[in-house]
Amino acid sequence: MNLKNYIADVENFPEEGIIFRDISPLMADGEAYRYATNEIVKYAKDKGVEMIVGPEARGFIVGCPVAYELGIGFAPARKKGKLPRETVEVNYGLEYGQDTLQLHKDSIRPGQKVLVCDDLLATGGTIAATIELIESLGGVVVGTAFIVELKDLKGRDKIKGYDILALAEY
Ligand code: PRP
Ligand code: ADE
Repeated sequence: MNLKNYIADVENFPEEGIIFRDISPLMADGEAYRYATNEIVKYAKDKGVEMIVGPEARGFIVGCPVAYELGIGFAPARKKGKLPRETVEVNYGLEYGQDTLQLHKDSIRPGQKVLVCDDLLATGGTIAATIELIESLGGVVVGTAFIVELKDLKGRDKIKGYDILALAEY
């Protein structure tokens, strides 16, 4: 299945000069959403994944069905001020801005094999921040999975040494 057929290209969103790759048509199509989920599930099984982490908000959409299908847990990495208990946090840069991500301190066990799921890899700021959070809790990031990779933004270079699954490349 060519997932690009289910990704909408929106010019100048959220700001001038950005082509926003919108995965919402993919999510709206049950077959395409299941196909993408199953590809990540296969990858996660190969890696012996024990826990999924997804960064807010679109990482929830990608990561939760994978965790459900595998029968393992999901931990949300949330934007600052949303998680109610003790957290670790990190600041990071994005293709269009700057933010802070937090993870509950008890969401990952030391040594646990973690897969990070998100909709899209752009500059790699979000994934690098998420990896930093997981590792600060002793988790082992065994892979990262995305529906879309924007090659020109060289996000891969920010997470050298980590394995990457990307289902569609631009
Ligand atoms: C988007 C996207 C990724 C991130 C990719 O999230 O869902 O998480 O940017 O960009 P990067 O590789 O340059 O970090 P965004 O922060 O816009 O939040 P949202 O999912 O809440 O819309
Ligand atoms: N997140 C960062 N850059 C993006 C883009 N170009 N499209 C969709 N989500 C993004």
